[in-house]
Amino acid sequence: MKRILASIALTTLAAVPFAAQAQFAKVEDAVKYRQSVFSVMGTHMGRVGAVVKGERPYDKAAVEADAAIIETMSKLPWNAFPQGSEQNSKAKPEIWKEQDKFKAGAEKLQAESAKLSAAAKSGDLNAIKAAFGAVGQSCKACHDNYRNK
Ligand code: HEC
Repeated sequence: MKRILASIALTTLAAVPFAAQAQFAKVEDAVKYRQSVFSVMGTHMGRVGAVVKGERPYDKAAVEADAAIIETMSKLPWNAFPQGSEQNSKAKPEIWKEQDKFKAGAEKLQAESAKLSAAAKSGDLNAIKAAFGAVGQSCKACHDNYRNK
């Protein structure tokens, strides 16, 4: 009976978006994973940002590679937000109270990152600048609401 109840509990959890506890052995592992992904994303945003600001010469292949990494990273953190995993992290508890809004923010980032990738492939620096700005806005919008300073 206990085992049946446990498996029902797990199934229920799996059905809740962003509550992918089962993918990580410990909550700390999920927190570490998402922070690592965000950190890599931030590093490559910084590199494209330097090009956009004219601090680094424009190299099409390098920006394309950075954009591809940002696009891949943009898909990864969202299963690493198990319910109530704000402890020892900068995640605000509002994430789990406003899951639809948080998810919309995640989707916005993914859409804008795909556009940045496309712009990087086109080799049009002005398009890259515009797309980079939109990605940056989507980072900021979510951080303003869901990340502690
Ligand atoms: C939908 C919400 C959301 C979006 C979009 C988002 N972030 Fe975050 N970000 C978070 C949250 C929440 C945290 C805190 C995670 C934690 O501490 O567990 C975070 C943390 C970070 C961190 C700190 C990681 C660490 O080492 O602790 C960096 C860097 C970061 N984000 C960069 C970015 C960049 C760059 C973008 C856009 C390209 C972005 N984020 C988009 C929600 C978001």
